[in-house]
Amino acid sequence: MYHIDIMTLFPDTVGDVLSESILGRAQERDYIRILTHQIRDYTKNKQKQVDDYPYGGGQGAILQADPLYQCWDHIRQERQCRPHTIYLSPCGKTFTQEDARRLAREYDHLILVCGHYEGIDQRFIDAYVDEEISLGDFVLTGGEIAAMAVADAVCRLIPGVLSHDACFEDESHWNGMLEYPQYSRPAQWHGMEVPKVLTCGDHKKVERWRRKQSILRTRDRRPDLYAQLDLSSKEDQKLLAEIRAEELLRPLPHPVYTVPATPELWASISWPHTDVMPPHSYLLCHGPEPAACFSLEPLEAEEDLGIQDGKWSAPERSMLLTLHGQDPALTHTDLVDKLLDRAEELARQAGSPWLRMAVSKKDKELLAHMKAVNFQYRGNLEYQGARRVAYELRLK
Ligand SMILES: C[S@@+](CC[C@H](N)C(=O)[O-])C[C@H]1O[C@@H](n2cnc3c(N)ncnc32)[C@H](O)[C@@H]1O
Repeated sequence: MYHIDIMTLFPDTVGDVLSESILGRAQERDYIRILTHQIRDYTKNKQKQVDDYPYGGGQGAILQADPLYQCWDHIRQERQCRPHTIYLSPCGKTFTQEDARRLAREYDHLILVCGHYEGIDQRFIDAYVDEEISLGDFVLTGGEIAAMAVADAVCRLIPGVLSHDACFEDESHWNGMLEYPQYSRPAQWHGMEVPKVLTCGDHKKVERWRRKQSILRTRDRRPDLYAQLDLSSKEDQKLLAEIRAEELLRPLPHPVYTVPATPELWASISWPHTDVMPPHSYLLCHGPEPAACFSLEPLEAEEDLGIQDGKWSAPERSMLLTLHGQDPALTHTDLVDKLLDRAEELARQAGSPWLRMAVSKKDKELLAHMKAVNFQYRGNLEYQGARRVAYELRLK
């Protein structure tokens, strides 16, 4: 059992907070024990006074060394050992998750000393304190909040306190990174949607997305932590390349909309595209101009394009999305994202359970993009005389 004794002028407040919820249950189950001690109970005067004026003058009062020592000595005798003693102080080293891990790993017993007023007599620190810990570069009225923070951060790392080690191993600061964003039900709230990848059911994709979000968050919010990260693995290098490519994408300034294509409209497109307009074609327009053209072909189950080295998830009818061209002036924009969104919407309106794509092997940019979106890779196929890669998206 991990044991923490807290020396304070406010034992009830501290004890109440640390007996709630997860830490309360962990104490009931004897994984940890947190006890609080009233420093005042160790004074030798009737008024139970524990503070006095500072030598040399100045503001406020100082917690005297002797009541602190008597309290500390009582704990030491009760526990029959000399527990690692920490004074919570704005002059200490700033507390980190690494400190929490160290304290959980190297000791099984801590004494946390909470100061008050203007602080505590230095002689107690010199004689009995092993380290000073600060909660940050600010000053609190007392050490209680800091002691509760340290006790909480250490205790949740003690085996048995949380249900699985993954509960803390996945969290911010465990591996030097900040945690990815988290979402819970409902999937739509105040018009905001949960990122689609989190509802696709593909754990590998979810893991990849989370790692990428952690990298981005750490880079943007904590450049100091980011500078220490080792991102040399092949997978991280791929993520970094993806981030760089995505950040080059500028959002299109105007809204986009789709119109069914006509042979006249098709012929009026000035940028390179498939010559003959395929059936079920649309133009994606940006402002008054066409920005891309695509077809959305309904396929019955038996018409499913055969994949050579894999298969579609289900032999159901689907809509087959094919990109036939896009304005090269809009290459580094979020045009493809917008096009995929519109195609999804059209397929959904048509009542299709699947949106499928056969992306040309030559279209490197679109292939790279498919990895970042919610479509699932299914294999390779031959379609309209070209080698293509098959992707599909289940429409809910
Ligand atoms: C008002 S503070 C004393 C500050 C002290 N005179 C100084 O300037 O360093 C009273 C007590 O609050 C606690 N405290 C204040 N700020 C803290 C911090 N950032 N981290 C940990 N404990 C803190 C310490 O226990 C301290 O003895």
